[in-house]
Amino acid sequence: MNLFNVYPLNNITITKALGSYVWDDKGTQYLDMYGGHAVISIGHTHPHWVKRIEHQLHKIAFYSNSIIIPIQQELADKLGKVSGKEDYQLFLCNSGAEANENALKLASFHNGKKKIVAFSKSFHGRTSLAVAATDNPSIVAPVNQTENVIFLPFNDEQALEECFSNHGHEISSVIIEGIQGVGGIVAANTSFLQLIRSLCDQYNAVYIADSVQCGYGRTGQFFAHDITGVNADIYSMAKGMGNGYPIGGILIAPHIQAKFGLLGTTFGGNHLACAAALGVLEIIEEQDLLSNALNIGNYLLNELKAIPQLENVRGRGLMIGFDVPESLKDLKKTLLNNFHVFTGEAKPNVIRLLPSLALTKEQADAFLAALKQAIILIQGE
Ligand SMILES: Cc1ncc(COP(=O)(O)O)c(C=O)c1O
Repeated sequence: MNLFNVYPLNNITITKALGSYVWDDKGTQYLDMYGGHAVISIGHTHPHWVKRIEHQLHKIAFYSNSIIIPIQQELADKLGKVSGKEDYQLFLCNSGAEANENALKLASFHNGKKKIVAFSKSFHGRTSLAVAATDNPSIVAPVNQTENVIFLPFNDEQALEECFSNHGHEISSVIIEGIQGVGGIVAANTSFLQLIRSLCDQYNAVYIADSVQCGYGRTGQFFAHDITGVNADIYSMAKGMGNGYPIGGILIAPHIQAKFGLLGTTFGGNHLACAAALGVLEIIEEQDLLSNALNIGNYLLNELKAIPQLENVRGRGLMIGFDVPESLKDLKKTLLNNFHVFTGEAKPNVIRLLPSLALTKEQADAFLAALKQAIILIQGE
C-alpha cells in the first residue's frame, strides 16, 4: 500500500531526538529551529515528559469520557495556574483544527448566531468550519464552502467596525491568531484585538483567540493575545500542549455554559494525553520557559536585525520571522543541507523560527553562526 502523497518531503529520516537536536539515520546531528512546526515546547523527548508518559502507560492509557478521569482535572488545575485563566473551563480534544472547530461551534451554540468573522492570511486548520475560516481557497473543498464566514483585512479597524455595524446582530464569533503563523509571522495590533473585545461585548459575539501556534508560552506570555490586557472568550490550543503527544483543547470563559452532549470526542482528554500535557506544564513552570522564550527570543531578534541581508525581522519570543530576498531564496535549503539546521517557512519568502522554548543562548548563537555562513556561501556562489 502507498502512503497518500500529500506532503512534499525533505529526504531525511530522523531516528533520534533530544532537547533542541535531532539525529538522522546516518548519525548526523541537526539543530531544530523549527520545533516540528512549533510543536516541541519543552524540548524533544524531555526526560520528565518521557517518565510521565511511561508511568501513566503502565497504569492506564485510555478509557472513554464515560467515567471520571482525575488526571483531566489535574491538568485543568495546572493549566489554570500556568495560564492565569483559573476561572476558565477546559474542553480537551486532539488537534488544533479540532480545537477551533469546537470553539466556532460552541460560540454558535452559545449565542444562536451563524456568521464568523475571520481575517486575510489566517490559518485555523483543515476541518470543515476551521478550513472555511482559513484564508486559503486551495485547501477549501467545495463541501466546506459556506456563506457564514466573512473575511476582513487583518488589522483593519475601520473594516471591522463597518462589518459589525452592518452585520453585528448575525455575528456569532470573531476568530483571530495573536500572531499569524502560516500567514508569515504577522502580529495582530493590540488596539485591533481590544476593538474585537469591545465589539464582541457590544454585539454579544464570541472572541476566539486561536493560540494553536502563538500560544502555550511561545511569545513569552502564555497566550500571545495576553499582551492586550483584555481576555478572549475562548482560547484554542494544541501544538506545544503535548510536546509531540497529540492533544488540543479550548479554554472557555465562565459565562459560556456547558450542557451534556454539547461537545464530545472519543480520544480527547485520554489518560495518556493528559499525562503528556501535565509533563509539559510542569517543565514550563519549573524551568520558567516563558521567561526563557522571551529572553532568547529578544536576543535572537536583535542579532537577526543586525544581519543586513535579512529583511523585516519580526516576531515575539520564540516565534520569529524574516523575509529573504530573491538572491537568498535557497537559504532554508542551504541551512538544512549544508549546516544541518531545520527552520520553517511561510510563502512566498519568509523563514520562520519556532524552536523549543528551552532553546539556550549557545544554541541561538550556533544558529546565528550557521545563518551567517549560509548567507556567505550562497552569495559567494
Ligand atoms: C494558528 C493555527 N491554528 C490551527 C492550526 C491547525 O492545527 P492542527 O494541524 O493541529 O490541526 C494550525 C496549524 O498549523 C495553526 O497554525
